[in-house]
Amino acid sequence: MIALGSDHVGIELKRVIMQYLEEKGLAYKDFGTFDTERCNYPEYALKAANAVVSGECDKGILCCGTGIGISIAANKVKGIRCVVCSEPYSALLSRQHNNTNMLAMGSRVVGGDLAKMIVEQWLTGVYEGGRHQVRVDQMKEIEETGKIGK
Ligand code: RB5
Repeated sequence: MIALGSDHVGIELKRVIMQYLEEKGLAYKDFGTFDTERCNYPEYALKAANAVVSGECDKGILCCGTGIGISIAANKVKGIRCVVCSEPYSALLSRQHNNTNMLAMGSRVVGGDLAKMIVEQWLTGVYEGGRHQVRVDQMKEIEETGKIGK
């Protein structure tokens, strides 16, 4: 299950992604916003991010105007590693190396077709672990204790 979230600026791009996921037979749950009335992206980042950390959803995809605000908000939630991407290579590497569990994109930055390529690569990428696990663990340590090591 993929958690989706957006603000009013990202909603059109989110709809493109919904259609793409439907075509691929992938299940999603939309945490809003549900219309184009002006709203605040942290509220939807939080709802979708909570669904990911609770295990209700495996991963999450977020959209706002740039992808920046909504990704920063999601990354404030403990356990979230959200990458903002505007090209597929970083999306793939963010899965393979950083074990990202959320992807953010900007509707003012990427068009629908590019967004679909980004989503495809991100969903295809498999976390490689190994040397990357040390770094992911260090990020977890920073999150939990504010430092690395003793
Ligand atoms: C909303 O105007 C805009 O600031 C938002 O969609 C996003 O781009 C923030 O990072």
